[in-house]
Amino acid sequence: MNDKQFIKAFAPATVANVCCGFDVLGFALDEPGDEVWARKKDAPGITISAVTGVEGLSADPAENVIGVVAQKMLTELNLSHGLELQLHKGMPVGSGLGSSAASSAAAAFAVNEVLGSPFTKEELVVYAMEGERKASGSAHADNVAPSILGGFALVRDYDPLDVIPLGVPVKLYCTIVYPQIELKTSLARSILKKEIPLKKGVRQWGNLAALMAGLLKGDYALIGRSLHDEIFEPERSILIPLFNQAKQAAKEAGALGCGISGSGPSIFALSATAAQAEEVRVAMENVYASSGIELKTYVSQVPEQGARLIEEPVYQPAQS
Ligand code: HSE
Repeated sequence: MNDKQFIKAFAPATVANVCCGFDVLGFALDEPGDEVWARKKDAPGITISAVTGVEGLSADPAENVIGVVAQKMLTELNLSHGLELQLHKGMPVGSGLGSSAASSAAAAFAVNEVLGSPFTKEELVVYAMEGERKASGSAHADNVAPSILGGFALVRDYDPLDVIPLGVPVKLYCTIVYPQIELKTSLARSILKKEIPLKKGVRQWGNLAALMAGLLKGDYALIGRSLHDEIFEPERSILIPLFNQAKQAAKEAGALGCGISGSGPSIFALSATAAQAEEVRVAMENVYASSGIELKTYVSQVPEQGARLIEEPVYQPAQS
């Protein structure tokens, strides 16, 4: 590998909140995900020479999350050379699957490698959070942490950041149904009430603690009982067509639990087996069958691995 070659990194989509863990819990998926390519350039500054896979994303490094993340890392290290970056998106924006987080995580991972790995994976989470700040106005870590670290990741605190990687203590399969409307995280955050009634808070932290216990004990029934959100889901689900029907269908098809993925509109359901997760996919697809709403679905085991370097990128540049 010489200095002129691109380092290529992939970072996966993620499910944030996981019902009862708003802004503090997330897990990684196998797919989809984003690729960021990075290489050094002699001139200072950052250029983004390609953005592919989705329409309308800026290639201005001050506007695109990958440029923001990379700049923060360069500034921290006080380096005089610059970076050329490319973003190849394998997932839609505004989907609730941590699209900006996957780009930010892949950027942090690729840039770190180009610079000779000055940062640990845990430190990369802090830089990737700057991409989230740019994209949604809030530097939450519940997508970027699992996208970088893989498995489940819990954010105990933000000040200072204390992320607890939980890995994959129990096998779980995730069904994602993405009704193809764009829902911006900034909008889905702006509609939330700022106060939480005590009774609802008590239920929520009871469920979150029990979900942690269920994961660590491998207790599927407890995981299922804990996947509830009586605070944010009622406020946000009105933005997602057929959410209640899809959730009911997932539960009837045997899912352990079901909820909004991140800020939506994607819906996630967790199952104990791959076969169950497939049945859940079919049941949820049936809900949307005659709705006229375009749907994308994914079934993925919750993977141990998050962001990684890739030799064989999914994106293939056009031959010139
Ligand atoms: N925790 C964040 C939210 C995730 O729900 O707004 C956004 O992807």
